[in-house]
Amino acid sequence: MATAPANGDSQSGPQRNYQVVVAATRDLGIGKDGILPWELLGDLKFFKELTLSSSDPAKKNAVIMGRETWESIPVKLRPLPGRLNVILTRSGSFDFATVENVVICGSMKSALELLASTPYCLSIEKVFVIGGGQVMRKSLAETNDSNGKESAEVDSKNKFETENFSFLPKMIFDRHEEYHYLNLVEDIIRSGAQKNDRTGTGTLSKFGCQMRFNLRKSFPLLTTKVLQEKGIHIWDGNASREYLGRVGLAHREEDIQTCMLTTLEKVFDQLMDVIDKVKNNPDDRRIILSAWNPSDLKKMALPPCHMFAQFYVENGELSCQMYQRSAEMGLGVPFNIASYSLLTCMIAQICDLSPGDFVHVIGDAHVYRTHVRALEEQIQKMPKPFPILKINPSKKDIDSFVASDFKLVGYDPHQKIEMKMAI
Ligand SMILES: NC(=O)c1ccc[n+]([C@@H]2O[C@H](COP(=O)([O-])OP(=O)(O)OC[C@H]3O[C@@H](n4cnc5c(N)ncnc54)[C@H](OP(=O)(O)O)[C@@H]3O)[C@@H](O)[C@H]2O)c1
Repeated sequence: MATAPANGDSQSGPQRNYQVVVAATRDLGIGKDGILPWELLGDLKFFKELTLSSSDPAKKNAVIMGRETWESIPVKLRPLPGRLNVILTRSGSFDFATVENVVICGSMKSALELLASTPYCLSIEKVFVIGGGQVMRKSLAETNDSNGKESAEVDSKNKFETENFSFLPKMIFDRHEEYHYLNLVEDIIRSGAQKNDRTGTGTLSKFGCQMRFNLRKSFPLLTTKVLQEKGIHIWDGNASREYLGRVGLAHREEDIQTCMLTTLEKVFDQLMDVIDKVKNNPDDRRIILSAWNPSDLKKMALPPCHMFAQFYVENGELSCQMYQRSAEMGLGVPFNIASYSLLTCMIAQICDLSPGDFVHVIGDAHVYRTHVRALEEQIQKMPKPFPILKINPSKKDIDSFVASDFKLVGYDPHQKIEMKMAI
């Protein structure tokens, strides 16, 4: 049984996020001759528990299914109890609408819109798409944003004829963008070069990597572990008195500014320059933020890792590509992805544009040896849907934002995974 998260298309009305839950063979077969071709009690139990459980007892979950899947459920067992059964049919000739707990919809889009509107947005906690093959193949392709990966307890012993078989589209399992991160981590652990580093910890490393995140419908805050819930302390170690003494900056303040400051004097406001160009000269090929200032490097406790960002405007959308010379995958990179994505969304709002893509280009992408075990645990986890970022629409000045102007909707990460920072 696999669950794969996905996000609804938000281009017309607001739509619900959903998860896909399905039992599949290794070849992604899910049904034969209108029925389940196996009976795995563990899978059925998992399905029941997953789709029935809600954290708020006043709410229940919805299960979206194709008309044939509905018909494949034995009459005495349908509608699936304790859940809102949403049946997709284009023919409209089926009269289930009178049955309690059953809703009929003509498309996946209309189902997700319906579930995002009252009363369902208040009474339904989670939405699961439960099959069958047609719904997965056509509808998820239509919403163009299914993602996730097979991590199924699959029935590998049974070999079925593929005739009359309902199949899942393979794309369901490889499109969640968190896999750009997870696959890169895995690749570094499996085949990275062993290198020494300034902290003496030892790393595994790859050179020249790229990840791409779509900011149009959701926000890439990684879900396979929870990022520090309140307050960010990843740089505290590089601003401590002990560390500053070690790098010859004992005279400097023990704070985050010392750690990251590019230049002490504010000689040129690069951010305002970027905003001005995005607004007034959007085709400019020099919309650049540069933190790498060679003459100032000696004044810094740690020279900038994310050193260069270029912004790009196209079709009313703002994209950003950031070059990071050194990227620590376990603790740092999830924050780097989130912070440049956030900056892109903020500048887009100020300039009356929509967010486009965040492209993360990395020079030395490395995993500290001390993080390998924790990251191996993390890459086994199934990503959940990315949250949606809401920004107070009235804010039009980059210096006016405060924390309460930002709201993350639907962030439901896996638990925290402990990793120590190498200093
Ligand atoms: N292994 C699992 O976890 C699992 C889960 C579910 C089902 N299954 C199996 O899968 C098989 C059924 O799957 P299937 O692929 O044959 O059929 P299905 O996807 O369940 O249902 C197909 C029907 O749903 C409607 N439909 C599909 N996409 C739609 C859309 N985008 N908008 C509106 N209506 C839409 C159409 O109904 P109309 O013809 O009425 O227009 C279509 O004929 C069965 O064997 C079942 O046991 C297995």
